[in-house]
Amino acid sequence: MLIGVLHGPNFNVLERRDPALYGGLSLHELEARIRGWGEELGCDVLCRQTNSEGEYIEWCQELGESGDGLIVNPGAWSHYSYAIRDALELARGPVVEVHLSDVDNREEWRRRSVLMEIAAHRVVGKGPEGYREALEFLVRR
Ligand code: DQA
Repeated sequence: MLIGVLHGPNFNVLERRDPALYGGLSLHELEARIRGWGEELGCDVLCRQTNSEGEYIEWCQELGESGDGLIVNPGAWSHYSYAIRDALELARGPVVEVHLSDVDNREEWRRRSVLMEIAAHRVVGKGPEGYREALEFLVRR
């Protein structure tokens, strides 16, 4: 079982973002944890990050086709990118939307997700553990 984990803009500097919201981990550390949980659950995990929306869309298309499930945290794009939503709609397997912070209880503009309706599952505000929940959901499916 192959699961793609796709991070969007500003995750390359995750360790510099507000630790009260994002936990203070680097992307490298976060991805190492995710890969470790993947191993425990017996699945292959492919992690990628980009600040370019076009590249993100291409990965959604590619891994949506070749993978068995996707975990996406497109950062701020989650709140307005219909192009990413359209790309994710093509995915063969289920899509899980994850946010480290509790976006549903932050600024008004973060409460809106254009991915919500196409996601099979959504995890917000659980920090890195949210990715474990997402992996467990996909493995169970
Ligand atoms: C985020 C929440 C988004 O609103 C924000 O733009 C991010 C991170 C999260 O994981 O909590 O970049 O997706």
